Amino acid sequence: MKRIRLTVVLIALWLPGCLFAQSADPKMDGFINGLMGRMTLEEKIGQLNLLSVGFDVTGPLLSQGVEAKVRQGRVGGVFNTYTPVAVRKLQRMAVQESRLGIPLLFGYDVIHGHKTIFPVPLGLACTWNPDLIERCARIAATEASADGLNWTFSPMVDIARDPRWGRIVEGAGEDPYLGAQIARAMVRGYQDGGLSRSNTLMACVKHFALYGAAEAGRDYNTVDMSRRQMYEYYLPPYRAAVEAGAGSVMTSFNEVDAVPSTANHWLLTDLLRDQWGFSGFIVTDYTAITEMSQHGLGDFRTDAELAMKAGVDMDMVSEAYLTHLPELVAHGDIPMSLINQACRRILEAKYRLGLFTDPYRGCTEERARAKILTPENRRAARTAAAKSFVLLKNDRQLLPLKKTGNIALIGPLADNQADLLGSWHAAGDWRSAVGVRTGLSNAAGSAVNVLYAKGANLVDDPALRKFLEQFGSPAPVDPRPPAELVAEAVAAAGRADVVVAVLGESAGLSGEAASRSELGLPDNQEQLLRALVATGKPVVLVLMNGRPLTLGWEAEHCGAMLETWFGGIEGGNAVADVLFGDYNPSGKLTTTFPRSVGQIPIYYNHKNTGRPAAGDPAIKYVSRYLDIPNDPLYPFGYGLSYTTFAYGEVKLSRTELSGAETLLASVNVTNAGTRAGEETVQLYLSQPAASVTRSVEDLRGFQKVFLQPGETREVTFRLTPNDLKFYNARLEYDWEPGTFVVRLGGDSAGGLKSAALTWNQAPAPAQRR
Ligand code: NOJ
Repeated sequence: MKRIRLTVVLIALWLPGCLFAQSADPKMDGFINGLMGRMTLEEKIGQLNLLSVGFDVTGPLLSQGVEAKVRQGRVGGVFNTYTPVAVRKLQRMAVQESRLGIPLLFGYDVIHGHKTIFPVPLGLACTWNPDLIERCARIAATEASADGLNWTFSPMVDIARDPRWGRIVEGAGEDPYLGAQIARAMVRGYQDGGLSRSNTLMACVKHFALYGAAEAGRDYNTVDMSRRQMYEYYLPPYRAAVEAGAGSVMTSFNEVDAVPSTANHWLLTDLLRDQWGFSGFIVTDYTAITEMSQHGLGDFRTDAELAMKAGVDMDMVSEAYLTHLPELVAHGDIPMSLINQACRRILEAKYRLGLFTDPYRGCTEERARAKILTPENRRAARTAAAKSFVLLKNDRQLLPLKKTGNIALIGPLADNQADLLGSWHAAGDWRSAVGVRTGLSNAAGSAVNVLYAKGANLVDDPALRKFLEQFGSPAPVDPRPPAELVAEAVAAAGRADVVVAVLGESAGLSGEAASRSELGLPDNQEQLLRALVATGKPVVLVLMNGRPLTLGWEAEHCGAMLETWFGGIEGGNAVADVLFGDYNPSGKLTTTFPRSVGQIPIYYNHKNTGRPAAGDPAIKYVSRYLDIPNDPLYPFGYGLSYTTFAYGEVKLSRTELSGAETLLASVNVTNAGTRAGEETVQLYLSQPAASVTRSVEDLRGFQKVFLQPGETREVTFRLTPNDLKFYNARLEYDWEPGTFVVRLGGDSAGGLKSAALTWNQAPAPAQRR
């Protein structure tokens, strides 16, 4: 008897392809074993095929003959199709007309909201509020799932230090600590602790990995980076999202160590699966498999083989798997076990989503009507937008504006709904967005007279305009000559008490394949701004853009500057809330604003070098520019309020610690102004001497405090040896005893209060992460 049992076990282990693989859910295993036992090779490969059907295309191909393939069981999922009607139609085909009736995944780029569009992710990150970001993701999932979707290609957690890269708008900025918190929050929001509830979406962490480090900020460009740099700065947000339970991961278009991510076994299998324990499935980004030929790895058959062997489960759009896997298996180049394993992972995701129980997840038009674009969701979007804005400058308290007098409202983004949604607004409809002009008149009351003039088009270059119309902004173009537009705006400014100029980028100037080499305002808008400033009227510059801009001249000449990114569907109301002081701005930058493009890459957690610039311009042999300072225009973490916050000295519970002890670092923060306001207290840590060079400082904590005028609150952070850890030269994640400096304050640069301590005694043997 014992021998028979042993033989059965051995056969089960040997049977090609984890046909009887075991997860923690025996019921699911039993179901999938049964199903896979009935599947042909072609049907299994079909599960690995993801096709684009419908409204959006982000690459050169649109999938062909989808319906026939669905009926043949040659499609595992589709993306870009939503609404209960469209989803039900295609899903019915899969479950009723294919041989085995396996339901489809329905994916989509629900990036910052589905129909209720929130601020772009870079803006949301500036709230420094993971709870709020989680709520936004939850609302996005509620709406998108009501519209038939079950999978979102989000969160995008690529660290970016180069604002030339247009996709910086889609991420959380430059810092891995904050980025990891936001990554977790988004996964929680989408998946809500499990996928079985029908109002969830499966998350897809992207773009794995290092996509944000494209050389020269040019999208899809080569990435080359040391392992230490990856581990320390670029990988933590992906890992955090995986640890939060994200159901899927998307490969990136770039190479990592000279191997495209999509063919990179080290990245996808050794690191992601074996070291991090990821158990969901891996999908390519768009045609990344066949793009490997352009990278220089061989023909499509070779590409398909490399991707499968590296660990890619699902092929988005390229159909390289569908075309080449049958032959690769037949020739023995791909073992059946790999096909079974990939197919199982896709089926497991479908099972967890409850698709085998209800393939439609209860999506109906009534539910969509009840859940989408509700007043409550819009209110959440307005709050999120107001909290995402960053006050960059406010001389002599020009802001907030009084609700009396004449306001000249000028600029191509002042009466514009279309661009307000920003890049990747997916299902968002710009017609439901509230522009700034409407927002101001909603809030202003009868004592305010708003004098509107467009002043300039978004761009004047006809070729660029045509391109943007095709891929982005449907904002109408004023055909009058630029000088006439400017003259009209100047006349309006002349009659006003204050000028509010709403300028920046069109939504299509950031996002995918939207890299820029110059980061100023478009020339025509710059001319307009100079003419407005020349009137001598106080100018409030309201910026809309998807990346840090170079704003040196603006910072010198405008009285106030409010960075509003692309604020989403309620952007205009939120701008009014902040301009009139109904909300006191609290956003803080999560990306450094350079003075000039020549400083890029520029980021707060840089190294000291052996020859740091000392500030004395007479000294030659130090690391600096001859023509501009090293420091940025606005540092990471920066953002003003209508009140001011005063910081006391840093108090440490101890200045000498050892081993696993805990340090408490506290500071008193006082609201020294006359308005209530919220401050984000930031903790930066540095270790001036270690076995490898460290950054000058790293964010290790932040807390938000809301203070009434005159109120003081003690803010305390707990630090343990875990917070001291870094990747050493052997890539071990560990801490080293020594001297540490704790800095506390309102941004990464200005006037941080600091205190030093020593932390002694080596811990137990290092652990590899
Ligand atoms: C390409 C983009 O890089 C990726 O972020 C997106 O999710 C896919 N296209 C699908 O639209």
